[in-house]
Amino acid sequence: MKRVIVTGGAGFIGSALVRRLVKDTGYDVLNLDKLTYAGNLHSLREVEDSPRYRFARVDIADAARVERIFSEFRPHAVVHLAAESHVDRSIEGPETFLHANVVGTCTLLTEARRYWECLRGAAADEFRFHHVSTDEVFGELGREGRFTEASPYRPNSPYAASKAAADHFVRAWSRTYGLPVVLSNCSNNYGPYQFPEKLIPLVIIKCLRRETVPVYGKGEQVRDWLFVDDHVAALQLILERGHPGESYNVGGASEWRNIDIVHRLCDLLDRHCGGNGASHRGLIRFVDDRPGHDFRYAIDFTKLEGTLGWRPRETLESGLASTVRWYLDNRWWWEPILARRYAGQRLGVVAGRQKAV
Ligand code: NAD
Ligand code: DAU
Repeated sequence: MKRVIVTGGAGFIGSALVRRLVKDTGYDVLNLDKLTYAGNLHSLREVEDSPRYRFARVDIADAARVERIFSEFRPHAVVHLAAESHVDRSIEGPETFLHANVVGTCTLLTEARRYWECLRGAAADEFRFHHVSTDEVFGELGREGRFTEASPYRPNSPYAASKAAADHFVRAWSRTYGLPVVLSNCSNNYGPYQFPEKLIPLVIIKCLRRETVPVYGKGEQVRDWLFVDDHVAALQLILERGHPGESYNVGGASEWRNIDIVHRLCDLLDRHCGGNGASHRGLIRFVDDRPGHDFRYAIDFTKLEGTLGWRPRETLESGLASTVRWYLDNRWWWEPILARRYAGQRLGVVAGRQKAV
């Protein structure tokens, strides 16, 4: 494998993947990203001068531009991460999610197929289209059980529905046209360069600014947390050794209630910048719950572990400690975001919402 297109490479996970592929492999990497509010080329400073890295500002739903990229770059693989990724924003404006996640993915699949059908022999067999998806497509769990690759699709938020639709289109392109695809469905990522709309960076930054920390509902929802570099290691493995037509669950074996995560972050920040003795836990406020809030996600990644030998390396303790350290040391990255793109306000509240039946 020599030339790889990474879509969404200016986002949180995509930039971690691009940094890894440029630094640790010999691949040529083309980052294809529209640069929405969530895209940030500053996350790629470490690799931007590499002769094996290039960037194209393109909307994945722009068929003509995507076609040109395929015919000029001639990729051996596409790792598709470009998406609208925030559940709260999908509650406020689902249309953008339909455009990026569904229309965008279909456009990419169409152009990938057109390109792949002109390849011959080993080049055609070895081509891969890897869709990076989420555990949210499976809906919510009660207190017991974990999602497997065979779990039924039951998406609940507009974001999850758009990712589920994209997964279905990817599967259809494999079955109908024979495009060599792989899918991965991953749990909640955290780590450096995550946009501050997501729980962990939001809490860290709110604490650093001594602002109130919003916890939805009673904070009892459970998420499985995975350090981003562990996810990216899994993505590389699945890209290189995953079996075409298969999907792989990726998880952190690290289930925590939101309130426990928030407490841990507050305690870590007490240690770093306790100052006047008032614990950061005093900043916590319980606020109206997210509409349609999924109670629990948990991932069974036995298949990935058994077939490709992947396990997460980071524990929640080590991962949160290094993440807090990173946000303390890298204000240059997040302060301009807060000033210009997102000021930390509540997103995703629906006025007069009816209770779902
Ligand atoms: P992110 O929001 O940080 O980044 C998304 C990137 O996609 C941005 O750089 C943005 O500019 C780009 N983008 C959006 N629409 C585009 C379009 N129409 N054309 C081209 N580029 C576009 O997201 P993330 O957290 O890094 O997530 C990346 C992928 O991983 C997404 O597909 C998401 O569904 C999936 N995922 C995320 C998590 C998580 O916890 N963050 C977990 C599982 C799966
Ligand atoms: O499970 C994988 C998914 O994880 C990915 O597919 C999504 O792209 C990613 O955004 C993430 O979705 P969540 O909705 O779980 O992540 P978020 O960080 O928005 O919220 C995590 C939990 O914290 C969730 O239960 C809602 C809660 N929360 C979130 C925010 C932003 C709060 O209590 N307060 C907050 O201010």
